[in-house]
Amino acid sequence: MSLSIEVRSTQPFAGQKPGTSGLRKKVREFMQPGYTENFVQSIVGACPRPQASASASAPGSCLVVGGDGRFLCAPVVHTIVRICAANGIEKLLVGQNGILSTPAVSCLIRAHNTLGGIVLTASHNPGGIDNDFGIKFNCANGGPAPDQMTDEIYNLTTKITQYKIVPDLVCPIDKVGQYTFDIQGKKFEVEVVDPVEGYVTLMKSIFEFDRIKSLICGSPQRKPFNVLIDSMNGVTGPYVKRIFVDELGASLESITRTVPLEDFGGAHPDPNLTYAADLVNTVKNGDYDLGAAFDGDGDRNMILGRNSFFVTPSDSLAVLADNLNCIPYFKNGANGFARSMPTGSAVDRVAEKLKQTMYEVPTGWKYFGNLMDANKLSLCGEESFGTGSDHIREKDGIWACLSWLSIIANTGKSVEEVLNNHWNKYGRNYFTRYDYEDCAADVCNQMMDYVEKKITDPSFVGKDFTFGSKTYRVKLGDNFSYVDPIDKSVATKQGLRIIFEDGSRIILRLSGTGSSGATVRLYIDSYEAVDVTGDAQVMLKPLIEVALQISDLKKYTGRDQPTVIT
Ligand code: G1P
Ligand code: ZN
Repeated sequence: MSLSIEVRSTQPFAGQKPGTSGLRKKVREFMQPGYTENFVQSIVGACPRPQASASASAPGSCLVVGGDGRFLCAPVVHTIVRICAANGIEKLLVGQNGILSTPAVSCLIRAHNTLGGIVLTASHNPGGIDNDFGIKFNCANGGPAPDQMTDEIYNLTTKITQYKIVPDLVCPIDKVGQYTFDIQGKKFEVEVVDPVEGYVTLMKSIFEFDRIKSLICGSPQRKPFNVLIDSMNGVTGPYVKRIFVDELGASLESITRTVPLEDFGGAHPDPNLTYAADLVNTVKNGDYDLGAAFDGDGDRNMILGRNSFFVTPSDSLAVLADNLNCIPYFKNGANGFARSMPTGSAVDRVAEKLKQTMYEVPTGWKYFGNLMDANKLSLCGEESFGTGSDHIREKDGIWACLSWLSIIANTGKSVEEVLNNHWNKYGRNYFTRYDYEDCAADVCNQMMDYVEKKITDPSFVGKDFTFGSKTYRVKLGDNFSYVDPIDKSVATKQGLRIIFEDGSRIILRLSGTGSSGATVRLYIDSYEAVDVTGDAQVMLKPLIEVALQISDLKKYTGRDQPTVIT
């Protein structure tokens, strides 16, 4: 039976501007008639592809589609299928039940050479009808669309007058299989895939599973290494079951919250000390050698050692950089390291020692992709619990955990010993981030303008700021801008930086991923060569006070305390 395309009139919706990683809004906004359709039509319109009409067999007119299983995922997958069918896309690879982790989408795009993929997620933000949803486009390299493309998508959403859809197309996305449809005489294919399979194959090509298995199960030389892996009811559940239990021999008690739920069971699926407090408490009070948690869509990770010894993401990146020899994927070495600007600079010291080029890019994973595609970057990370390598073009939570297990299996050291050795070797960049969530947007913008004016005034350089016995002298104040070394594109106003003479840094920026109000992020990074075992909050107190003083943050936001401290 041939299905017909319908052209429907619509009008633009204001403010559909994709942020740090796609369009994130409240679920109910996506439920307004035409809203999701408009955005998907605009993505398909901006997607660079061989004109399907030019030849019936135009190569590669295929997209990957999947999401983290949050409320609205499955219905939006059906909408995407119907709109793609109407717009000449030839094939879709869809995760069963619409489920695909963000790293798995990146993996599938690359493995199947598709034009790109559409990811349905609001990452670490809560799910359910009263919470968040998001739509993100990833390009042919597997990474988030660059600014030029998100700008183009946004432009289309401001001008849209109609979208095309095949309303009668019904695809059984709950059953793995190949489905073919006739759309007004043209073939359209949907392949529903097992969400886990391709990703597991990739992990097996990167790590020595046997070695990690004997660490977890124990050997005559070593008692079993107890892990506790928390999927926070997000998308990683099925991946964790398959990899940690079926492949690596962990017991079912070693994994928790592994059923993806539409509302994440009420959890805020962000693997940090606040929102993953359950894991932190369980590991603190139990007999666990390593705890790990992943966010809703599986790209973020938090690593804990025995007694919940916390590994700061910036340190995690530095440790991986220094131990790449423990991971078979890197047997020929690395091609450069990178971190986002606010990320603590611990990895810079490793890069210097190993003579690796170090790149500092704006916040958001999309900036790493160009460097990786040009073979200039192998390993990168962000302070926001994101770590990854050029095996895909997204950060990857499970990969980070397997990397840590590889290091432990190879060195025989505990998580805490690995960190202590690292600090003794390189010194320590104490790091903390304060988040002030859901503030009023206008006062935050005023604060940013005020601080920018202040710190870019020439008289700011050389000023001394004192708290207690500590004095910091300003070396530089600016609003970070970045020129991409590969395509020379420029990103301006990426965050306010105050850098002091001793290398300590204060960074202030507004989040680009929130779905309501504004979130202020304050980052503090300070290096100590010798005093490496202190408590980060105590060590950083003077610099935090200086930051609050310079920014007048309490006055502008009306907040005495941050919502989250990392
Ligand atoms: C946040 C993080 C950033 C990360 C992004 C997507 O963005 O800070 O590092 O890439 O989420 O996970 P922000 O809200 O700060 O713009
Ligand atoms: Zn995420």
